[in-house]
Amino acid sequence: MNYRYNIFEINYKKLNLQRIKLTKIRKDMEEKNQVEKKVILSGIQPSGKLHIGHLTGAIKNWVKLQQEYECFYTIVDLHAITVKQNPAELRRRTLETAALFIACGVNPEISTLFIQSFVPEHTQLAWVLNCFTGMGECSRMTQFKDKSAAHSENINIGLFSYPVLMAADILLYQTDLVPVGEDQKQHLELTRNLAQRFNFHYSDTFKIPEPYIEKVGARVMSLQEPSKKMSKSDDNDKATIFLSDTDEEIKSKIKRAVTDSDSVVKMSNEKMGISNLMTLYHIAKNMSFDDIEKEFAGKGYGVFKSAVADAVADYIRPVREKYLDLMNNKKYLEELLTAGAEKARKRAFKTLRKVYKKIGFVQF
Ligand code: TRP
Repeated sequence: MNYRYNIFEINYKKLNLQRIKLTKIRKDMEEKNQVEKKVILSGIQPSGKLHIGHLTGAIKNWVKLQQEYECFYTIVDLHAITVKQNPAELRRRTLETAALFIACGVNPEISTLFIQSFVPEHTQLAWVLNCFTGMGECSRMTQFKDKSAAHSENINIGLFSYPVLMAADILLYQTDLVPVGEDQKQHLELTRNLAQRFNFHYSDTFKIPEPYIEKVGARVMSLQEPSKKMSKSDDNDKATIFLSDTDEEIKSKIKRAVTDSDSVVKMSNEKMGISNLMTLYHIAKNMSFDDIEKEFAGKGYGVFKSAVADAVADYIRPVREKYLDLMNNKKYLEELLTAGAEKARKRAFKTLRKVYKKIGFVQF
């Protein structure tokens, strides 16, 4: 009896040792993986309601990227105040944007999702970078020129140094890749210049970020003027399918969408309205355009529009429901965002500390 017990004990110890060893190996591998995962950072302004075009473009990309990269996603409220904002609206939109991203599949347990103003290191680094940026560099920015033309009554210094704050967003996290659309390429170029300048002046401090060219998804056009991109700021509310729209709103907007006097469901440059509805059906049903043409051959626009309306409503419903759940549970949403900011700060603080040391600030 005693003997057997001893043997059992020895085996048990051996087993346990093996288990400890295995756990350590696994942990090492995981850490290595973590280190090797490239870092992505992207920001979105909380400036408007999100629509189905965002879902198929930026948001889908963000969701996909979080599997392969270590992602930092931030809602840039500090950038938003470079143009006039209504305080209640800004607060609401910031939370709405966060809720919608989560509803669409951005997982706050995998990615770091946070509100920019929760992480003071962004403004702290931006100030330092401001002191390394020439006036000429900022005045050359196309977006500054466009925005100061559009808001000539409020051309403020924040608007002028907007790209410097964006550089701080990116450089704080030692970002490898930044998913950017065409309109942000110039800002990323400035970011790279500032990083190189600082590294050259002192010593290696910032990683030089590269653009991550987004795959262009299906382009969704306005339901009322199908030659224009669908936009959150369209004057005509019927032109845009918002992710917060009810089933009835979605269906009614689609049924009233502009088409043509023909009756053939076909992709064509001459049939922008119908092509756009086909695109929506393709997104909602994940069906090829050929199959869609076949399904609706000889059926006319009434049947087609009804089918698109139902499909898009079905597609948006789970997103809207999750979104409403989060908006009705603001405390939980705020907790998620606070946790995200804490995670972000850990990484941001490391970079800022290095920067402060290199420029000669007394260490605190
Ligand atoms: N300027 C970007 C835009 O208007 C938003 C943004 C702010 C951003 N900081 C960023 C994008 C950092 C990418 C990385 O779209």
